[in-house]
Amino acid sequence: PFAADRHEIVGDALYWIGAVTVAWVSVSTLCCLLNGTRVWIVGNGNLMRATKLGKWAVVTGATDGIGKSYAEELARRGFAIVLISRTQEKLDEVSKAIESKYNVETKTISADFGSVDIYPKIESGLAGLEIGVLVNNVGVSYSYPEFFLNIPNIDSFISNMININITSVCQVRERVILNVASASGMYPVPLLTLYSSSKAFVDFFSRGLAAEYKSKGIIIQSVLPFYVTTKLSKIRRATLDIPSPERYVKAQLCTVGLQTQSNGYFPHAVMGWVTTALLPAKLLNKYVMSMGLSQRARYLKKQKQG
Ligand SMILES: NC(=O)c1ccc[n+]([C@@H]2O[C@H](COP(=O)([O-])OP(=O)(O)OC[C@H]3O[C@@H](n4cnc5c(N)ncnc54)[C@H](OP(=O)(O)O)[C@@H]3O)[C@@H](O)[C@H]2O)c1
Repeated sequence: PFAADRHEIVGDALYWIGAVTVAWVSVSTLCCLLNGTRVWIVGNGNLMRATKLGKWAVVTGATDGIGKSYAEELARRGFAIVLISRTQEKLDEVSKAIESKYNVETKTISADFGSVDIYPKIESGLAGLEIGVLVNNVGVSYSYPEFFLNIPNIDSFISNMININITSVCQVRERVILNVASASGMYPVPLLTLYSSSKAFVDFFSRGLAAEYKSKGIIIQSVLPFYVTTKLSKIRRATLDIPSPERYVKAQLCTVGLQTQSNGYFPHAVMGWVTTALLPAKLLNKYVMSMGLSQRARYLKKQKQG
């Protein structure tokens, strides 16, 4: 009888462990599905409107790629746009195109984010404007994957990347701030180590600030794209997993206010989940390193061939 009692106790315990596990998995899956539907199907597309947030949107690195698409999409949503970038001719071209296509005011500020003395100029250019949205998008990467100590002109490379990718995001005032980090900030990317680390900073900085300022009604979002077809990625042909900047930005803007940290585009969210939640970190690291090595070999071979 004693052994039978023990069997019964073990049986009961296993039953409850099983029941709690099934309930936990079901509730988590349901929450995941509901949250996924809210973010990726319903979205929050109506938040990002000038009528709701303020007249002006400021975009850095606004003359090309993702930044240019932010400027255009925000203009389409009724914002007047301040474009900040390096080259005045490109700024003039993009601002003219936006004004005539979307019938909104624009203003341009030329500034090289590689320098740290540009902020008073930006500050005075923005003075007096009712700014609702700031998109800290400007960023640079490596011209090819490389071992850290082999990077040409490493000292200026380091200070330039820190100034452009890190110092530029440390501006906090507006109602909504989107800080464009990168999926390469979600885990170390060997051979692009400084880029990946600078983007990890942007991600941590944004998430910390988001918690600090949530109660004041300020939205700060860390945006973590995988590849998008731009000059920086050197990829021209768009596919489902590598969207054009226009497609990426349209999707990303629907996640604002719903996610503090977002890959911004559903296929990228799936890629983010697979790489961080499913793949063991060691395996991922090995895979990313081997990808970097083959990209590096291809680049160097091309250079040799002239
Ligand atoms: N494309 C991707 O696959 C990808 C993936 C993840 C994250 N991101 C991030 O997304 C952001 C935008 O990247 P993107 O691919 O759109 O880049 P992009 O096509 O190279 O465009 C960069 C923009 O920034 C401006 N810019 C570059 N250096 C500058 C400087 N020193 N001072 C002022 N402006 C400068 C460029 O102006 P000029 O034309 O005058 O140089 C251009 O308007 C970056 O933060 C990047 O790290 C991109």
